[in-house]
Amino acid sequence: MKTQNQVWDIYTRLFHWLLVLGIAYQWVSMELLDDAMEQHALVGYGLLSLILWRIIWGFIGPHTVRFRHFSPNLKTLFTYLRAKPKPVYATHNPLGSIAVLTFFGLILVQSISGLFMTDDIFFSGPLLGWLDTTIENVIQSLHDTSFDLLVLLILVHILAVVWHVLHAEPYLIKAMFHGKKPLITPPSMSNLQVHSRALVSLGIAITLVYCSVNYLPQWLGINPADDWDF
Ligand code: HEM
Ligand code: HEM
Repeated sequence: MKTQNQVWDIYTRLFHWLLVLGIAYQWVSMELLDDAMEQHALVGYGLLSLILWRIIWGFIGPHTVRFRHFSPNLKTLFTYLRAKPKPVYATHNPLGSIAVLTFFGLILVQSISGLFMTDDIFFSGPLLGWLDTTIENVIQSLHDTSFDLLVLLILVHILAVVWHVLHAEPYLIKAMFHGKKPLITPPSMSNLQVHSRALVSLGIAITLVYCSVNYLPQWLGINPADDWDF
Protein backbone atom coordinates (compact mmCIF):
# COMPACT_ATOMS: atom_id res chain seq x y z
CA MET A 1 0.00 0.00 0.00
CA LYS A 2 1.53 3.31 -1.10
CA THR A 3 1.66 6.28 1.27
CA GLN A 4 -1.34 8.57 0.98
CA ASN A 5 -0.48 12.24 0.60
CA GLN A 6 -2.72 15.24 0.84
CA VAL A 7 -3.66 16.76 -2.53
CA TRP A 8 -6.93 18.48 -1.54
CA ASP A 9 -6.79 20.76 1.51
CA ILE A 10 -9.80 20.84 3.84
CA TYR A 11 -11.02 24.21 2.48
CA THR A 12 -11.07 23.08 -1.16
CA ARG A 13 -13.00 19.97 -0.15
CA LEU A 14 -15.49 22.05 1.85
CA PHE A 15 -15.78 24.40 -1.13
CA HIS A 16 -16.61 21.45 -3.41
CA TRP A 17 -19.31 19.89 -1.26
CA LEU A 18 -20.87 23.26 -0.29
CA LEU A 19 -20.99 24.06 -4.00
CA VAL A 20 -22.85 20.80 -4.65
CA LEU A 21 -25.36 21.48 -1.83
CA GLY A 22 -25.78 25.15 -2.78
CA ILE A 23 -26.45 24.49 -6.46
CA ALA A 24 -28.87 21.68 -5.63
CA TYR A 25 -30.68 24.03 -3.23
CA GLN A 26 -30.90 26.78 -5.88
CA TRP A 27 -32.74 24.40 -8.18
CA VAL A 28 -34.99 23.06 -5.40
CA SER A 29 -35.84 26.59 -4.19
CA MET A 30 -36.99 27.66 -7.65
CA GLU A 31 -38.62 24.48 -8.92
CA LEU A 32 -40.04 22.71 -5.85
CA LEU A 33 -40.53 25.24 -3.05
CA ASP A 34 -43.04 28.06 -2.82
CA ASP A 35 -41.99 31.35 -1.37
CA ALA A 36 -38.25 30.64 -1.11
CA MET A 37 -37.03 33.70 -3.04
CA GLU A 38 -35.26 35.22 -0.04
CA GLN A 39 -33.41 31.96 0.68
CA HIS A 40 -32.57 31.60 -3.03
CA ALA A 41 -30.95 35.05 -3.03
CA LEU A 42 -29.10 34.37 0.24
CA VAL A 43 -27.71 31.03 -0.96
CA GLY A 44 -26.85 32.77 -4.27
CA TYR A 45 -24.76 35.32 -2.34
CA GLY A 46 -23.13 32.41 -0.51
CA LEU A 47 -22.28 30.73 -3.83
CA LEU A 48 -20.85 33.99 -5.19
CA SER A 49 -18.67 34.29 -2.06
CA LEU A 50 -17.56 30.66 -2.46
CA ILE A 51 -16.53 31.08 -6.08
CA LEU A 52 -14.71 34.37 -5.40
CA TRP A 53 -12.92 32.60 -2.54
CA ARG A 54 -11.89 29.72 -4.85
CA ILE A 55 -10.52 32.19 -7.42
CA ILE A 56 -8.36 33.87 -4.75
CA TRP A 57 -7.41 30.39 -3.47
CA GLY A 58 -6.26 29.52 -7.00
CA PHE A 59 -3.50 32.11 -6.53
CA ILE A 60 -2.56 31.82 -2.86
CA GLY A 61 -3.63 28.29 -1.81
CA PRO A 62 -1.43 25.15 -1.59
CA HIS A 63 0.33 24.48 -4.91
CA THR A 64 -1.86 21.52 -5.97
CA VAL A 65 -5.01 23.72 -6.07
CA ARG A 66 -3.42 26.73 -7.78
CA PHE A 67 -4.41 27.68 -11.33
CA ARG A 68 -0.74 27.51 -12.28
CA HIS A 69 -0.79 23.83 -11.35
CA PHE A 70 -3.71 22.92 -13.60
CA SER A 71 -3.77 25.49 -16.44
CA PRO A 72 -4.55 23.50 -19.59
CA ASN A 73 -2.82 24.11 -22.93
CA LEU A 74 -3.30 22.38 -26.27
CA LYS A 75 -0.01 20.45 -26.07
CA THR A 76 -0.68 18.91 -22.62
CA LEU A 77 -4.31 18.29 -23.62
CA PHE A 78 -3.42 16.30 -26.78
CA THR A 79 -0.60 14.43 -25.03
CA TYR A 80 -3.08 13.46 -22.31
CA LEU A 81 -5.79 12.43 -24.78
CA ARG A 82 -3.35 10.17 -26.71
CA ALA A 83 -1.76 8.62 -23.60
CA LYS A 84 -2.50 4.96 -22.80
CA PRO A 85 -2.77 4.24 -19.94
CA LYS A 86 -3.82 7.71 -18.77
CA PRO A 87 -1.30 9.34 -16.42
CA VAL A 88 -2.56 10.17 -12.93
CA TYR A 89 -2.46 13.80 -11.81
CA ALA A 90 -2.40 15.14 -8.25
CA THR A 91 -5.53 17.18 -8.93
CA HIS A 92 -7.07 17.89 -12.35
CA ASN A 93 -5.89 16.28 -15.58
CA PRO A 94 -5.78 18.64 -18.63
CA LEU A 95 -9.31 17.68 -19.74
CA GLY A 96 -10.67 18.00 -16.19
CA SER A 97 -8.98 21.41 -15.90
CA ILE A 98 -11.05 22.74 -18.79
CA ALA A 99 -14.23 21.48 -17.12
CA VAL A 100 -13.24 22.99 -13.77
CA LEU A 101 -12.45 26.42 -15.26
CA THR A 102 -15.76 26.29 -17.16
CA PHE A 103 -17.50 25.47 -13.85
CA PHE A 104 -15.94 28.54 -12.23
CA GLY A 105 -16.96 30.75 -15.17
CA LEU A 106 -20.56 29.47 -15.27
CA ILE A 107 -21.09 29.74 -11.51
CA LEU A 108 -19.70 33.28 -11.61
CA VAL A 109 -22.07 34.20 -14.47
CA GLN A 110 -24.98 32.49 -12.70
CA SER A 111 -24.49 34.26 -9.37
CA ILE A 112 -23.63 37.70 -10.81
CA SER A 113 -26.59 37.60 -13.22
CA GLY A 114 -28.77 36.82 -10.16
CA LEU A 115 -27.98 40.32 -8.87
CA PHE A 116 -29.99 41.69 -11.84
CA MET A 117 -32.94 39.28 -11.48
CA THR A 118 -36.51 39.92 -10.41
CA ASP A 119 -39.46 37.62 -9.79
CA ASP A 120 -41.72 40.46 -11.02
CA ILE A 121 -43.63 40.32 -7.70
CA PHE A 122 -41.74 40.77 -4.43
CA PHE A 123 -38.05 40.50 -5.18
CA SER A 124 -35.56 42.55 -7.12
CA GLY A 125 -31.85 41.81 -7.21
CA PRO A 126 -29.67 44.58 -5.73
CA LEU A 127 -28.25 45.71 -9.09
CA LEU A 128 -31.55 45.72 -11.00
CA GLY A 129 -32.12 49.14 -12.55
CA TRP A 130 -28.43 49.97 -12.97
CA LEU A 131 -28.10 49.07 -16.65
CA ASP A 132 -30.21 49.66 -19.73
CA THR A 133 -33.37 47.49 -19.74
CA THR A 134 -32.32 45.70 -22.95
CA ILE A 135 -28.99 44.70 -21.40
CA GLU A 136 -30.72 43.64 -18.18
CA ASN A 137 -33.11 41.44 -20.18
CA VAL A 138 -30.11 39.71 -21.78
CA ILE A 139 -28.53 39.22 -18.32
CA GLN A 140 -31.81 37.80 -16.99
CA SER A 141 -32.05 35.27 -19.82
CA LEU A 142 -28.42 34.37 -19.09
CA HIS A 143 -29.54 33.34 -15.58
CA ASP A 144 -31.74 30.66 -17.21
CA THR A 145 -29.34 29.64 -20.00
CA SER A 146 -26.21 29.38 -17.87
CA PHE A 147 -28.10 27.17 -15.42
CA ASP A 148 -28.98 24.76 -18.26
CA LEU A 149 -25.31 24.70 -19.27
CA LEU A 150 -24.33 24.17 -15.64
CA VAL A 151 -26.65 21.15 -15.36
CA LEU A 152 -25.14 19.72 -18.55
CA LEU A 153 -21.62 20.21 -17.23
CA ILE A 154 -22.56 18.61 -13.88
CA LEU A 155 -23.82 15.51 -15.73
CA VAL A 156 -20.63 15.31 -17.82
CA HIS A 157 -18.56 15.88 -14.64
CA ILE A 158 -20.25 13.04 -12.77
CA LEU A 159 -19.91 10.69 -15.76
CA ALA A 160 -16.22 11.64 -16.12
CA VAL A 161 -15.61 11.02 -12.41
CA VAL A 162 -17.32 7.61 -12.63
CA TRP A 163 -15.26 6.75 -15.75
CA HIS A 164 -12.07 7.63 -13.88
CA VAL A 165 -13.08 5.61 -10.86
CA LEU A 166 -13.65 2.57 -13.10
CA HIS A 167 -10.60 2.98 -15.37
CA ALA A 168 -7.84 4.94 -13.67
CA GLU A 169 -8.29 6.13 -10.08
CA PRO A 170 -10.63 3.98 -7.95
CA TYR A 171 -9.97 6.24 -4.94
CA LEU A 172 -10.99 9.49 -6.75
CA ILE A 173 -14.31 10.18 -5.00
CA LYS A 174 -12.96 9.25 -1.56
CA ALA A 175 -10.11 11.71 -2.21
CA MET A 176 -12.68 14.53 -2.44
CA PHE A 177 -13.70 13.59 1.13
CA HIS A 178 -10.40 12.84 2.89
CA GLY A 179 -8.16 14.83 0.52
CA LYS A 180 -5.52 12.13 -0.01
CA LYS A 181 -4.18 10.23 -3.03
CA PRO A 182 -1.39 7.61 -3.25
CA LEU A 183 0.96 10.11 -4.91
CA ILE A 184 4.08 11.93 -3.87
CA THR A 185 2.96 15.49 -3.25
CA PRO A 186 5.18 17.28 -0.75
CA PRO A 187 3.24 19.86 1.29
CA SER A 188 3.82 23.35 -0.12
CA MET A 189 2.87 25.23 3.05
CA SER A 190 2.40 24.71 6.78
CA ASN A 191 -1.03 24.13 8.34
CA LEU A 192 -0.88 27.58 9.91
CA GLN A 193 -0.32 29.16 6.48
CA VAL A 194 -3.19 27.15 4.96
CA HIS A 195 -5.65 28.15 7.71
CA SER A 196 -4.65 31.81 7.85
CA ARG A 197 -4.63 32.28 4.07
CA ALA A 198 -7.97 30.50 3.70
CA LEU A 199 -9.64 32.61 6.38
CA VAL A 200 -8.23 35.89 5.07
CA SER A 201 -9.35 35.08 1.51
CA LEU A 202 -12.78 34.00 2.78
CA GLY A 203 -13.03 37.33 4.65
CA ILE A 204 -12.16 39.21 1.43
CA ALA A 205 -14.70 37.22 -0.64
CA ILE A 206 -17.55 37.71 1.88
CA THR A 207 -16.76 41.42 2.28
CA LEU A 208 -16.80 41.90 -1.51
CA VAL A 209 -20.22 40.23 -1.81
CA TYR A 210 -21.63 42.01 1.27
CA CYS A 211 -20.56 45.41 -0.14
CA SER A 212 -21.90 44.56 -3.62
CA VAL A 213 -25.30 43.75 -2.13
CA ASN A 214 -25.55 46.45 0.53
CA TYR A 215 -23.48 49.45 -0.60
CA LEU A 216 -22.78 49.13 -4.35
CA PRO A 217 -26.43 49.89 -5.30
CA GLN A 218 -26.25 53.22 -3.38
CA TRP A 219 -22.85 54.07 -4.91
CA LEU A 220 -24.30 53.38 -8.37
CA GLY A 221 -27.36 55.52 -7.60
CA ILE A 222 -29.84 52.63 -7.93
CA ASN A 223 -33.21 53.23 -6.27
CA PRO A 224 -33.99 50.07 -4.30
CA ALA A 225 -37.05 48.37 -5.76
CA ASP A 226 -37.67 46.73 -2.38
CA ASP A 227 -36.20 47.10 1.08
CA TRP A 228 -34.58 43.71 1.48
CA ASP A 229 -31.33 43.89 3.32
CA PHE A 230 -28.85 41.05 3.87
C1 HEM B 1 -23.56 20.19 -8.33
C2 HEM B 1 -22.72 19.21 -8.61
C3 HEM B 1 -21.21 19.38 -8.72
C4 HEM B 1 -20.46 20.48 -9.01
C5 HEM B 1 -20.94 21.89 -9.34
C6 HEM B 1 -19.08 20.07 -8.95
C7 HEM B 1 -18.01 20.91 -9.19
C8 HEM B 1 -16.68 20.56 -9.08
C9 HEM B 1 -15.56 21.47 -9.18
C10 HEM B 1 -15.69 22.98 -9.42
C11 HEM B 1 -14.44 20.76 -9.01
C12 HEM B 1 -13.02 21.31 -8.95
C13 HEM B 1 -12.64 21.51 -7.49
C14 HEM B 1 -11.58 22.57 -7.31
O1 HEM B 1 -10.51 22.49 -7.93
O2 HEM B 1 -11.82 23.50 -6.54
C15 HEM B 1 -14.80 19.37 -8.82
C16 HEM B 1 -13.94 18.33 -8.63
C17 HEM B 1 -14.33 17.05 -8.31
N1 HEM B 1 -15.62 16.61 -8.13
FE1 HEM B 1 -17.30 17.67 -8.39
N2 HEM B 1 -19.01 18.73 -8.62
C18 HEM B 1 -20.29 18.28 -8.47
C19 HEM B 1 -20.68 17.02 -8.11
C20 HEM B 1 -19.83 15.99 -7.83
C21 HEM B 1 -20.22 14.67 -7.41
C22 HEM B 1 -21.67 14.21 -7.21
C23 HEM B 1 -19.07 13.94 -7.25
C24 HEM B 1 -18.92 12.51 -6.84
C25 HEM B 1 -19.53 11.55 -7.46
C26 HEM B 1 -17.96 14.82 -7.55
C27 HEM B 1 -16.64 14.44 -7.51
C28 HEM B 1 -15.58 15.26 -7.80
C29 HEM B 1 -14.20 14.82 -7.79
C30 HEM B 1 -13.72 13.40 -7.48
C31 HEM B 1 -13.42 15.92 -8.12
C32 HEM B 1 -11.92 15.95 -8.31
C33 HEM B 1 -11.66 15.69 -9.77
C34 HEM B 1 -10.20 15.70 -10.13
O3 HEM B 1 -9.40 15.13 -9.41
O4 HEM B 1 -9.88 16.30 -11.17
N3 HEM B 1 -18.45 16.05 -7.91
N4 HEM B 1 -16.19 19.28 -8.87
C1 HEM C 1 -25.04 30.17 -8.41
C2 HEM C 1 -26.09 30.83 -7.95
C3 HEM C 1 -27.49 30.69 -8.50
C4 HEM C 1 -28.10 29.63 -9.09
C5 HEM C 1 -27.51 28.25 -9.38
C6 HEM C 1 -29.45 30.04 -9.45
C7 HEM C 1 -30.39 29.26 -10.08
C8 HEM C 1 -31.64 29.68 -10.50
C9 HEM C 1 -32.60 28.88 -11.21
C10 HEM C 1 -32.40 27.40 -11.61
C11 HEM C 1 -33.68 29.65 -11.46
C12 HEM C 1 -34.95 29.23 -12.20
C13 HEM C 1 -34.82 29.60 -13.64
C14 HEM C 1 -36.02 29.19 -14.43
O1 HEM C 1 -37.09 28.99 -13.86
O2 HEM C 1 -35.87 29.10 -15.66
C15 HEM C 1 -33.43 30.96 -10.91
C16 HEM C 1 -34.29 32.03 -10.96
C17 HEM C 1 -34.10 33.20 -10.26
N1 HEM C 1 -32.99 33.54 -9.52
FE1 HEM C 1 -31.32 32.46 -9.28
N2 HEM C 1 -29.63 31.33 -9.03
C18 HEM C 1 -28.46 31.77 -8.44
C19 HEM C 1 -28.22 33.01 -7.87
C20 HEM C 1 -29.17 33.99 -7.71
C21 HEM C 1 -28.96 35.23 -7.01
C22 HEM C 1 -27.66 35.66 -6.33
C23 HEM C 1 -30.15 35.92 -7.08
C24 HEM C 1 -30.52 37.25 -6.50
C25 HEM C 1 -29.84 37.94 -5.65
C26 HEM C 1 -31.08 35.12 -7.86
C27 HEM C 1 -32.36 35.49 -8.16
C28 HEM C 1 -33.22 34.79 -8.96
C29 HEM C 1 -34.55 35.28 -9.36
C30 HEM C 1 -35.18 36.61 -8.96
C31 HEM C 1 -35.08 34.29 -10.19
C32 HEM C 1 -36.43 34.35 -10.94
C33 HEM C 1 -37.54 33.88 -10.07
C34 HEM C 1 -38.83 33.90 -10.84
O3 HEM C 1 -38.82 33.83 -12.08
O4 HEM C 1 -39.84 33.93 -10.17
N3 HEM C 1 -30.45 33.94 -8.22
N4 HEM C 1 -32.17 30.94 -10.32
